[in-house]
Amino acid sequence: MPDQPDQPDQPDRSSLPAWLPAGQPYPSDAPASAALMERAQRVTPGGVNSPVRAFGAVGGTPRFMASAQGAWLTDADGRRYVDLVGSWGPMILGHCDERVVAAVREAAGRGFSYGMPSEGEVALAEEIVGRVAPVEQVRLVSSGTEATMSAVRLARGATGRSAIVKFAGCYHGHVDALLAHAGSGVATFALPDSAGVPASAAAETIVLPFNDLDAVESAFAEHGPRIAALITEAAAGNMGVVPPAPGFTAGLRRITAEHGALLISDEVMTGFRCSPSGWYGLEGPYEQGAPDLFTFGKVMGGGFPAAAFGGRADLMERLAPLGPVYQAGTLSGNPVAVAAGLSTLRACDDALYERLGRAARAIADGAVAALTAAGVPHRVQWAGSMFSVFFRDGEVTSFEQARGQDLGAFRAFFHAMLARGVHLPPSAFEAWFVSGAHDEAAVEHVLAALPDAARAAAEASDHASDDHAGGRDAG
Ligand SMILES: Cc1ncc(COP(=O)(O)O)c(C=O)c1O
Repeated sequence: MPDQPDQPDQPDRSSLPAWLPAGQPYPSDAPASAALMERAQRVTPGGVNSPVRAFGAVGGTPRFMASAQGAWLTDADGRRYVDLVGSWGPMILGHCDERVVAAVREAAGRGFSYGMPSEGEVALAEEIVGRVAPVEQVRLVSSGTEATMSAVRLARGATGRSAIVKFAGCYHGHVDALLAHAGSGVATFALPDSAGVPASAAAETIVLPFNDLDAVESAFAEHGPRIAALITEAAAGNMGVVPPAPGFTAGLRRITAEHGALLISDEVMTGFRCSPSGWYGLEGPYEQGAPDLFTFGKVMGGGFPAAAFGGRADLMERLAPLGPVYQAGTLSGNPVAVAAGLSTLRACDDALYERLGRAARAIADGAVAALTAAGVPHRVQWAGSMFSVFFRDGEVTSFEQARGQDLGAFRAFFHAMLARGVHLPPSAFEAWFVSGAHDEAAVEHVLAALPDAARAAAEASDHASDDHAGGRDAG
């Protein structure tokens, strides 16, 4: 395959009447999206099927999308945007990559779902096991939430213990036990602990500050014998990008092992994104040993509902049908989703990661230059080619620091970018996702929008609200 996927639908300003006229932003209203939102609100809570899509953190009308191609989204009003959401991570090759479209068409033509095993599931599991050395076996599921929920159950079943340690600002899906201090999506909607999570479930969850090994030592000293597992985002992406400090993951491995607890590395966001083998590929192997279990999602489904959890065979064999830990799914290993995921992973080669790195670096450099010129405090942080821009000065190592951003400045920046044809994640606490389809034209378009947006952020910054609500959930 050529290095650069074809971009048959690249924007040609001259042939697109709805395209942004040079130098003029889109109007702030979006009539077709607004009409759809009104309809949606009648039949769907809040009009959306995942809360952050409602633009709660930034205000305004969420844009309903009609189609996407390469690095570009087209909304219901026919307006086009460079996509820096990437479906919250999965679209690493860009939209409608021809290799994935062909694989999906071929698989769908053979059957949608068999309810019986099929070869594609084996091939996808082999691809994952081949990439992440400590993972000897995987079980396929349909969402990242299902992957972390199942990994937690397996850890509890394997250890006979019930408590789980997690970090504030890390999001692991909307699993009861993991929905405490779960990143900014929960903060955004003023649900510090979601209604409907029984106190008994929350009581089994110990929440600690990220990147604080002393806190981990103390928690294990006090509660060690009842802790089944510690779960962590391999590199946090749900409070903005906050990589683990050097030695942090190795420290977690050491402490959990000393206390007979399992270490679960959640790579739903970082897996196959930060490197061909995720965050583990960048930081591992660790002298102290590998995490016991890993969770994956997003990229490995190529935009379809496929996710996985995996680890050492002796642990994974405790799952039904071999062992006593029950876990199942009608659509697990769905043949069409598996075909999308496998063709996506097979296209995730060194050249792809190089392209991602180049596009990410160019956009991040442009953001730094524009925000610096406008005098807006900011900080860019990285995990491989995954990055985010914090609207505050200084290193961010914890959720508490991430929450110290100027959210008024971000809101103004977000809307100015949107008006200039760049769709950022509608949250100051999210990675900006690029894809292999973010070519020069797409990057240039983003760079051209940045200076005006940075000036808008500077103006808003003067009367920024000091609320600290973020805006993050599962996309
Ligand atoms: C690190 C992490 N784990 C788990 C999840 C949950 O995945 P899903 O939304 O597919 O349920 C997410 C989603 O954003 C995530 O970022």
